[in-house]
Amino acid sequence: MAQSGSTMMAAAFVQPGGPEVLQWMEVPLPQLAPGDVLVRVKAAGVQPVDCSVRSGWNPPGLPPATWPRIIGNEFSGIIERVGAGVSAFAAGDEVLGFRVLGCYAEYVSVPADQIVRKPPGMPWEVAGGLSGAGQTAHTAIEELQVGEGDTVLINGAAGGVGTVAVQLARHRGATVIATGREENHEYLRELGAIPVSYEGDLVGRLKAIAPGGIDAALDAAGGNGLQAAIELARDKSRVGTIYAFETYQELGIRWIGSKRNAVRLQELVDLHTQGKLRIHVRRTYPLAQAADAHRELEKRHGRGKIVLTAD
Ligand SMILES: NC(=O)c1ccc[n+]([C@@H]2O[C@H](COP(=O)([O-])OP(=O)(O)OC[C@H]3O[C@@H](n4cnc5c(N)ncnc54)[C@H](OP(=O)(O)O)[C@@H]3O)[C@@H](O)[C@H]2O)c1
Repeated sequence: MAQSGSTMMAAAFVQPGGPEVLQWMEVPLPQLAPGDVLVRVKAAGVQPVDCSVRSGWNPPGLPPATWPRIIGNEFSGIIERVGAGVSAFAAGDEVLGFRVLGCYAEYVSVPADQIVRKPPGMPWEVAGGLSGAGQTAHTAIEELQVGEGDTVLINGAAGGVGTVAVQLARHRGATVIATGREENHEYLRELGAIPVSYEGDLVGRLKAIAPGGIDAALDAAGGNGLQAAIELARDKSRVGTIYAFETYQELGIRWIGSKRNAVRLQELVDLHTQGKLRIHVRRTYPLAQAADAHRELEKRHGRGKIVLTAD
């Protein structure tokens, strides 16, 4: 239904805390600035960073929190209105995109250079969960310069970021060794990786799989897998972490921060359309049940993405 009022519903919170602080509440409709589009959200991906913000962390560069606070960094939906100066998109266009916060809501307003068109065959929940983890994986594989003939270790490979990173590394011609719990091994194999359990003597297992050593590694989970990557990698400048922000400097490895833009997102969309990128949505929840989605994500185990849906 077309939007006409000045408020909307959102999964928001008025004080930081556990998942229970997320409530389905009435909030002001976002402003539509020149260059922005207003999108009626169909799906919004859930990311670990959402849980950090909900717990009280304020992303660097943002002003102090105002209340109610709406989280969520990725979405898909239908354009409701376009702001002054927007000519590349029109009301009714189906899109996916990204922004910092604001996506667990009926509507999101976002600069038009932070969206791309959703292909008709891409399910809403896949589109809603692609812009965050997907672009992080894409950034990492690019910055680690993964290429033909490399042997790459991906730690935390079954998760949202790992799932995409495994596939992108395989497309670039790398052999991928992927850490995950035993129950995720078949999944990791289907993505094109050699699965390995992260517990116990991981270094011994990796030496048996890759006697020549590891050329590059992406860490998305810390722990044993990160230690093994540091021990076995030939060149520490090709070991990157998106997880160990407190220790990466003393470990002498790279910090990788997601560099999101529409060109990167379009590349991921194209790979999906060509059947070269699979996005696994392990569970959807209605937007109004965002608290349950956070409880599930905070278990820290599982395959692919958790996504909130508007319907
Ligand atoms: N720097 C950035 O810009 C950036 C961007 C996005 C995400 N991140 C961070 O990257 C991390 C991963 O994000 P995500 O979205 O992929 O999370 P996710 O979907 O929750 O996946 C995490 C994965 O880690 C695995 N895991 C849990 N404990 C592990 C362990 N001890 N060793 C190895 N793997 C383990 C789990 O798989 P099993 O079921 O196999 O245990 C799970 O699939 C989070 O900490 C997130 O905050 C950073």
